[in-house]
Amino acid sequence: MALPSGLDSQIFIIGCGISGIGAAQKLLKHGFSNVRIIEATARSGGRIRTGRLGWSGLLHCSSQTLEQPALSCDNIVEIGANWIHGPSKENPVFRLACDYQLLDKESMSEENQAIDMGGHPLFVPNWFTSSGRKLRPETMAPAVEFFMKLLERSQQFYESGGEPLPSVGEFLKAEAERLAPEEWKEDQANIKIRMAMINTLLKVECCVSGTHTMDDVGLGAFGMYKTLPGLDCTFPGGYESLIDHMMKELPKDIVLYNKPVKCIHWNYTKNGPDTKGTSFPVTIECLDGKTFAADHVIVTVPLGYLKKHQDTFLSPSLPQHKLHSIQRMGFGTNNKIFLEFEQPFWEEDCELIYLVWEDETDLADVVSDVKMSWIRKLFGFTVLKPAERFGNVLCGWIAGHESEYMETLSEFEVLQSVTQLLRKFTGNPTIAPRKLLRSQWFHNPYSFGSYTYVAKGCSGYDIDNLAKPLPLKDSNAKPLQVLFAGEATHRSFFSTVHGALLTGWREAERLVSLYTPASGSLSSKL
Ligand SMILES: Cc1cc2nc3c(=O)[nH]c(=O)nc-3n(C[C@H](O)[C@H](O)[C@H](O)COP(=O)(O)OP(=O)(O)OC[C@H]3O[C@@H](n4cnc5c(N)ncnc54)[C@H](O)[C@@H]3O)c2cc1C
Ligand SMILES: *[C@@H]1O[C@H](CO)[C@@H](O)[C@H](O)[C@H]1NC(C)=O
Repeated sequence: MALPSGLDSQIFIIGCGISGIGAAQKLLKHGFSNVRIIEATARSGGRIRTGRLGWSGLLHCSSQTLEQPALSCDNIVEIGANWIHGPSKENPVFRLACDYQLLDKESMSEENQAIDMGGHPLFVPNWFTSSGRKLRPETMAPAVEFFMKLLERSQQFYESGGEPLPSVGEFLKAEAERLAPEEWKEDQANIKIRMAMINTLLKVECCVSGTHTMDDVGLGAFGMYKTLPGLDCTFPGGYESLIDHMMKELPKDIVLYNKPVKCIHWNYTKNGPDTKGTSFPVTIECLDGKTFAADHVIVTVPLGYLKKHQDTFLSPSLPQHKLHSIQRMGFGTNNKIFLEFEQPFWEEDCELIYLVWEDETDLADVVSDVKMSWIRKLFGFTVLKPAERFGNVLCGWIAGHESEYMETLSEFEVLQSVTQLLRKFTGNPTIAPRKLLRSQWFHNPYSFGSYTYVAKGCSGYDIDNLAKPLPLKDSNAKPLQVLFAGEATHRSFFSTVHGALLTGWREAERLVSLYTPASGSLSSKL
């Protein structure tokens, strides 16, 4: 079914994160002329957000290029995405970043692209314990190695099936408890501290997955997430430099900012407000009352937003099985706490600081009293490198309900808790970070959390369900009224920037194929 005059159809994209920007880019490239992006906030980038430590308000270093190195750009920190995960040819974010010349030489080298860490980069660690001791690598590295092997095994059930337990957390804990006594029977003295370390590593995984507890992450689908080769790298001028370059390629007025969409009315025919009797199947209603008539809408809002507004964001509301998938899929919180110090208390080559609670030898990745002990969920810190660029800055990581509670505290209260923590773990009663900046993704009304994970009981079908355009298969209705992109709709790269970008492109291409049947196979299925 070829539709007439497709290139002038009214297309609206909801959300100006990387998936929305990517969709717009692709549609314009294929000659669509009526493309607008509607964004709730005053900025582009969504969960890509570069800020500055020690500045009130968020500035970003967009105009920064490699020719003007980071001087005017010191103290930048990534409130949202930080790394290109798997920067190699297959990664579209890496390709774009190379085209725009946003990366340093080393990140682009063939050697770095060939390194394959399977998603777990080997940072040089320092270990501190709750009694103020520093632990030696010989004592602790075996625990990390042991845990990495368990993690690898937990990823294998996606291919092989037959998972023995419903969640990754239950599997990791059961296997650790079963195998550790045997593994370290020659080394009894260290078993306790290594079990405490495994607890810390469970908290790390909560941050990686963006979940409250690994008990919520499904074991059977855990291996569905795919990693790409390449040594994870960062943007010297901030991740937002990528957004700025992409935005420069779009028409200046393509985005309507500060326009939260309240409801997408679809599946009906009505005379649009700006038209002369043409009928549009969709009307977008914004919070401020303004409406827009559309042929197609690409929804890119985060899964957290969809969960919160599932009953009202579409009218008629989402089909049952799509609703169920939205409810069942996981979307949790991972936050960062940036701290700047006068002097480093870590070793010069240190890239990662682990905090090990000596009393946490029973494996559990949640704290029992969130208000009193939320800080225990903070597994440790990554060190921002190089120090010449960033100063002595650490990034603390905390996931889950403990992280959501942290968001409700004042910056001063967080600073107090973190300072106490550091004094305890370093044994140095005078340590005092001089600046602090933390993210608050759970209290962001346009994301309600950080990113997607495949929850217990979910599978790839749920992600495919999420991604299915509406109407589902009503042959009389106009096709592709509402399409779904965004990080949560990518089966193997959910929770990443490259996943998000690919879904934006995917949905744009779906529209391209609708109007130019020869260019794709999709239209023949309609
Ligand atoms: C703390 C943190 C760390 C991360 N680290 C990494 C990392 O290192 N590497 C990596 O690859 N990924 C990382 N990610 C994930 C990555 O940031 C996201 O997967 C990606 O940016 C999502 O892009 P998106 O376009 O799907 O969604 P978003 O960027 O969230 O864009 C959606 C847009 O929709 C807007 N919106 C929402 N509701 C409405 C509405 N009703 N009306 C209009 N607009 C609306 C939002 O304001 C937003 O701008 C991280 C995320 C977080 C939170
Ligand atoms: C869409 O409209 C048609 C015709 O009015 C109706 O039969 C159908 O049930 C509607 N679909 C939904 C999901 O409401």
